[in-house]
Amino acid sequence: MKKILFIVGSLRAGSFNRQLAREAEQMIGARAIVNYLDYSDVPPINQDIEFPEPEAVARLRTDVKEADALWVFTPEYNFSYPGHVKNLFDWLSRPLVAGDYETPTVINGKKVALSGAGGKMATAKCREKLTELLTFIKADVMELQTGIALNLEAWTEGRMILSDEQKAALKVQVEAFLKFE
Ligand SMILES: Cc1cc2nc3c(=O)[nH]c(=O)nc-3n(C[C@H](O)[C@H](O)[C@H](O)COP(=O)(O)O)c2cc1C
Repeated sequence: MKKILFIVGSLRAGSFNRQLAREAEQMIGARAIVNYLDYSDVPPINQDIEFPEPEAVARLRTDVKEADALWVFTPEYNFSYPGHVKNLFDWLSRPLVAGDYETPTVINGKKVALSGAGGKMATAKCREKLTELLTFIKADVMELQTGIALNLEAWTEGRMILSDEQKAALKVQVEAFLKFE
């Protein structure tokens, strides 16, 4: 069965992007194994501590390696992706052994899907820039993405309720993602 790793790009407890990930997880149901990446202890990238890799980074790389595909659900911060999301991919882009640029990194060729919930532009800029970053580090980014423009209720009450149209768009992405090989 396909193993999928969800990466939620928001650290806050009530995150809309985590709620979006849960919706996608429900739509996937028993058709794949879904795990959520815990990256709370991954340190900021620092070349002084790259070799040997810190334990949390080793775990990050193992989790990514063992997944058949990744799905990133992330908010947009100032027309881009959050810094901690960049930090993960910076670590994943680096060699395991100092100076070894021949051996492919764990992110090389990895299938990645992107979605995001945010303001009026539905995280379009964030996903555009994240696509650019992921392509640069040789990940295989799925073209079909879902952007959710949060409604007033979400902003005022902290509850994300997707419209039928938004649910349908997410479902289309779920089905495409399950076939993305
Ligand atoms: C530093 C910062 C910058 C933000 N910039 C944007 C932005 O450029 N575009 C946008 O749609 N929302 C922006 N927001 C608002 C987020 O979309 C909103 O806080 C959202 O709830 C974050 O996602 P989460 O609920 O998953 O934490 C920003 C929020 C923060 C904290």
